[in-house]
This record gives sequence, structure tokens and C-alpha cells, in this order.
Amino acid sequence: MITAIYPGSFDPVTLGHLDIITRSANMFDKVIIGVLNNTSKKPLFSLEERVNMLTDAVSGLDNVSVECFNGLLVDFVKQKKSNIIIRGLRALTDFDLEMQMAQGNRVVAPDVDTVFLSTSVQYSYLSSSVVKEYARYGVDLKEFVPECVIPQLIDKIK
Ligand code: PNS
Repeated sequence: MITAIYPGSFDPVTLGHLDIITRSANMFDKVIIGVLNNTSKKPLFSLEERVNMLTDAVSGLDNVSVECFNGLLVDFVKQKKSNIIIRGLRALTDFDLEMQMAQGNRVVAPDVDTVFLSTSVQYSYLSSSVVKEYARYGVDLKEFVPECVIPQLIDKIK
């Protein structure tokens, strides 16, 4: 039984995240999405809202669950009896930070490995920040986020 952890801020979840989640769910027995609580990024959505939107978005995936975590990611990974972190890589711009995190995590927890999935081409430009920017300017959001997120995002931006 192999469990993998997909961590992030998910402020909000995008179709790019969902693509990585769906592909991970096909690779591992169980995927736990870890929503970071103590983010320094001042999220637009509360922890509860982010967890609820994700739960809704993955409701069709039987082996995926959503939890939140505080503190170090590797502690959460171990607590869940896993040793695999999943991260999506969009472009070279992601590489530096992702490599730094993966290597740092391995120094702190040598048993924990990070598996990188390349983002599908159609989502290579997509991020939660881009989505929030488009929402502010009234762009149709259906290409960017799961349907359940759209009304909440429009509401929040108002
Ligand atoms: O969606 P994000 O904001 O790119 O996700 C970043 C995340 C949550 C993976 C990263 O900030 C994280 O792991 N935070 C928990 C604290 C931690 O373990 N820090 C050490 C690695 S940077």
C-alpha cells in the first residue's frame, strides 16, 4: 500500500493541480492532499474554504483525500506513514525552488523522496495567482479552475 502526499497552498485549487492529482491517483494506492495552514503568503481563501473546494474537486477520485497540516511537510508525510511527496513542475522557473525544497527535505528526512510530475502542456502557464488575477478582471474562469471553485472565487474577489 503506497501512499503519496501532494502538498500545497491551493489558494485556490486549479485545473493544473487537479491534473497532477488525477495522474498521481493512477500511480499510487492512496494520495493525501496536504493543505498548508501556516502559509506566509496571506491566502485569499481560509484554510477551511481551501479544504472544502479541494474536497469537492476530488470527490470523484476514490483513493484521494484532503487534510491540512502545520509545520514541516516531512513531519506530516511521516505522520501519514508515507515517504513520497508529489510536486508538479511547470517550467524551468519552478525548478530552482522545487529542487531546493526537495533537497532540503531530504537532508531533514533522508527517507522521504520527491516525485516530480511534468505539468500537462495546456496548464503550463497556470497558477493560483494567475487565476486570481483573471478573476479580478472578469475573465471566464472555466479554463482555469474546477467548476465548484468559480462562484466562490467570483464572490471572494468582489
Ligand atoms: O503551493 P505551494 O505554496 O507552492 O506549496 C509550498 C509547500 C506547501 C509545499 C511548502 O511551502 C512547504 O512544504 N511548506 C511547509 C513547511 C516546510 O516543510 N518547509 C520546508 C520546505 S520549503
